[in-house]
Amino acid sequence: PGKKTSLKKLTNGALPTTPMAECREVDKGDSTVSITVVGASGDLAKKKIYPALFALYYENCLPKHFTIFGYARSKMTDAELRKMVSKTLKCRINERGNCDGKMDEFLNRCFYQSGQYDSDDNFAELDKKLKEHEAGRFSNRLFYLSVPPNIFIDVVKCVSTSTSSSSGWTRVIVEKPFGRDSESSAALTRGLKQYLVEDQIFRIDHYLGKELVENLSVLRFSNLIFQPLWSRQYIRNVQLNFSEDFGTEGRGGYFDSYGIIRDIMQNHLLQILALFAMESPVSLDAEDIRNEKVKVLRSMKPLQLENVVVGQYKSHIKDGVSYPTYTEDKTVAKDSLTPTFAAAALFIDNARWDGVPFLMKAGKALHMQRAEIRVQFRHVPGNLYKRFFTDLDEATNELFIRLQPNAAIYLKINNKIPGLGMRLDCSNLDLLYAARYSKEIPDAYERLLLDAIEGERRLFIRSDELDVAWKLFTPLLKELEDKKITPELYSYGSTGPIEAHNLASKYNVKWG
Ligand code: NDP
Ligand code: BG6
Repeated sequence: PGKKTSLKKLTNGALPTTPMAECREVDKGDSTVSITVVGASGDLAKKKIYPALFALYYENCLPKHFTIFGYARSKMTDAELRKMVSKTLKCRINERGNCDGKMDEFLNRCFYQSGQYDSDDNFAELDKKLKEHEAGRFSNRLFYLSVPPNIFIDVVKCVSTSTSSSSGWTRVIVEKPFGRDSESSAALTRGLKQYLVEDQIFRIDHYLGKELVENLSVLRFSNLIFQPLWSRQYIRNVQLNFSEDFGTEGRGGYFDSYGIIRDIMQNHLLQILALFAMESPVSLDAEDIRNEKVKVLRSMKPLQLENVVVGQYKSHIKDGVSYPTYTEDKTVAKDSLTPTFAAAALFIDNARWDGVPFLMKAGKALHMQRAEIRVQFRHVPGNLYKRFFTDLDEATNELFIRLQPNAAIYLKINNKIPGLGMRLDCSNLDLLYAARYSKEIPDAYERLLLDAIEGERRLFIRSDELDVAWKLFTPLLKELEDKKITPELYSYGSTGPIEAHNLASKYNVKWG
């Protein structure tokens, strides 16, 4: 016990985790992995992909022999690429001691090849360079398609004909959006499958790589206390809330042709819903988990217009600062009806969830940044203490799973306020990650890149999953567009459209 006390003191109450022990065994043998970031000059590559690769390198998670090639049309030398990348590399690791040294080592393994996305010759040049670096070793190749989706097929065609590995595996990570609706998504899948088999395609939904999303299944399936409660019998409603406190500035062009429903709901929030609601998989194997996700998605009813509210943000002046209207963005059509906010009620038609509303809300330019799952339980039958509450709704237990910011899981319970009288209070049993775990949470892209290198498909979207996800949203999206439904305007920095509150009230829910 003495030892435990001093350990806790040393770590200021937080429990230490074993350093470096988390990196799963990657191939440390004589094979090599070549990672090509296609679209290396772009925003995602700089913001997410290179920093994630560096973090993996820092944590010794990349194989001994690896090379990272950037590929794009922009002309750049290796030195220029390194300079560009170095500006966004951050050392998120606690022990900052050797960060600069490690950054230099990492950058020295980064190279650049300029070329067109549809040129077999340019990809053959890339192949030649990759071979020089692979130096005759058994070689595996990962291509990260960080380019707009209309270029995906050109790239995979060139990869398959000119740049695929002749001795090891070739895998392709594809970024969302995977189409705009059922039809375009199916066409994209068909296009990709002309050149790749399903096992080579890693469709990324970076929300699946978030720590608390991964933890959902641990929480559900390895805690006896939650298992029996996880159904319509005890759960009154579930909320999936996503909000950002900034608008679409800088990405207006992309956003305007997709909108919040395609950008956040059809993928990130629906994936969380599937993991939340699926039945217990036979095992932790990727196929078993993905089979269960598909099953629960197939049990859902497509979204109905009467269960959906759309909004668009308008300018607002706060503390002397003026925040813009969505359509002021030069890359957005002046008369755009694209929703920057949506709220929806979804239902699962199966024995476990019949009648339970799953409320989704996603919005840009709202009053706070947050991604959270909120589970509201039913009232305690015959509650002995009901006279101590003015509103029984306030007395229901609630479970919060906060993905970000400040990752946390907490359970709202009723408790007696200490003292001689009888007064009750709602308190939280909480697990705040920052207080409990001293190690920083890896970025979602780190986990997903590592999984792709290791061939772990659990956190990637299978094509049948994608089909069923689009089936749920396509009729609604078509109706919104055909009927030219005007989004309700809400002020930048507000809680969103009033109608969203009315939608929640219809199902006896108050948004969290
Ligand atoms: P960018 O628009 O920055 O494009 C990446 C690169 O692709 C550019 O640097 C450019 O390189 C090339 N490119 C851009 N437009 C065209 C075009 N019309 N024709 C040919 N090449 C083009 O995209 P992002 O980096 O923002 O995103 C990459 C992918 O990831 C996209 O599919 C995006 O939807 C997705 N995504 C992005 C997120 C983000 O936060 N940025 C988040 C989630 C998904 P060059 O001119 O040098 O060839
Ligand atoms: C992306 C969306 O998929 O997710 C963006 O295209 C959104 O619009 C982003 O801002 C949010 O991701 P995160 O990890 O910052 O919550």
